[in-house]
Amino acid sequence: MEIKTENRQQTKRSLQQQILDVAPVVLDFVILIVQVFYYIIEATFRLFKPVDPEPVKEELVLVTGAGHGIGREIALQYASEGCTLVLWDVNQKGNEETAKLIEKSGGPKAHTYTCDVSDRQNVLSVAEKVKQEVGDVTILINNAGIMPTHPLEKHTEAEIRKITDINVLAHFWTLEAFLPAMKKNNHGHIVSLSSIAGVVGIPNLVPYTASKFAVRGYMEALMDELNWNPYNQIKTTTICPFMVNTGLCKKPYVKFEKMLNLLDPKTVAEKIMYAQRTGVMECTIPSYLLKVNHLTRLLPAKAALKVKAFFDSGVHSDL
Ligand SMILES: NC(=O)c1ccc[n+]([C@@H]2O[C@H](COP(=O)([O-])OP(=O)(O)OC[C@H]3O[C@@H](n4cnc5c(N)ncnc54)[C@H](O)[C@@H]3O)[C@@H](O)[C@H]2O)c1
Repeated sequence: MEIKTENRQQTKRSLQQQILDVAPVVLDFVILIVQVFYYIIEATFRLFKPVDPEPVKEELVLVTGAGHGIGREIALQYASEGCTLVLWDVNQKGNEETAKLIEKSGGPKAHTYTCDVSDRQNVLSVAEKVKQEVGDVTILINNAGIMPTHPLEKHTEAEIRKITDINVLAHFWTLEAFLPAMKKNNHGHIVSLSSIAGVVGIPNLVPYTASKFAVRGYMEALMDELNWNPYNQIKTTTICPFMVNTGLCKKPYVKFEKMLNLLDPKTVAEKIMYAQRTGVMECTIPSYLLKVNHLTRLLPAKAALKVKAFFDSGVHSDL
């Protein structure tokens, strides 16, 4: 009789224990569902009432690859908002031309530095100069990039390493240089240029595609890691433009020109600044391409390839 009662009590205790074990998971799951619905409603609301862009006048903006193309236009956009600008480029002449254009447009004086972003020592020493001469960078725009365009077997080892060095590793060196101060002040924004080639693989751009997928990958992980700090105020924005008319993309072809043609670098720069100022985490330019990509990836792989082939846009070999 006593043994029976003891067994019953034990069963009751173990049932209680099981409920106690499961309760936190159930509670977490309920919170998750509420959060998911909250953010779906918020995103829907934002379609009709977009976030107001944050003021950037007080920010110190560093643009890599500011001597040409998208980087130059980004610099001009931020200058028009009255920001302090630090321009980096390996090409001194182009970089100084950008500074002159800023001056001509009535913008504030831009600080130019010649820097090869693929060289870690160069990045760290020029960054030290920037800190001493101008101050702590609060918006870092990792824009410099190269795009050799030919079939994989025609890429040399040196070329593959160079693409990786400039398009990916350089971002780690600029982060090494500028993220600590952002963390110390709990204030900052990192913007990195990926590409439509970081969203879909593009023939003739195998190493470039790898580099741009890498940018999206590290930015997503970094954003998550920064959020370990529950009070984190450092934001990240990854930009994936379709082909842009800067000359970087040497032999582009587009099937539906009326629907989606080469983009103008000024428009791209405007959209980049808007995405940064409104705290967008990741976007394509034009924005619908990311949604199309998400939907297409729900299809069976072979069907997705057919959709991609239907749109048939890309680059011919530059050889
Ligand atoms: N043009 C496009 O079609 C396109 C599309 C999607 C994404 N992107 C990306 O946008 C970014 C800018 O492209 P863009 O079209 O303006 O190119 P661009 O060639 O017009 O300008 C790139 C600038 O980066 C500089 N640069 C190159 N290597 C450097 C280095 N090692 N250190 C410092 N500066 C260096 C160049 O001197 C140049 O001024 C790149 O990351 C590119 O991959 C471009």
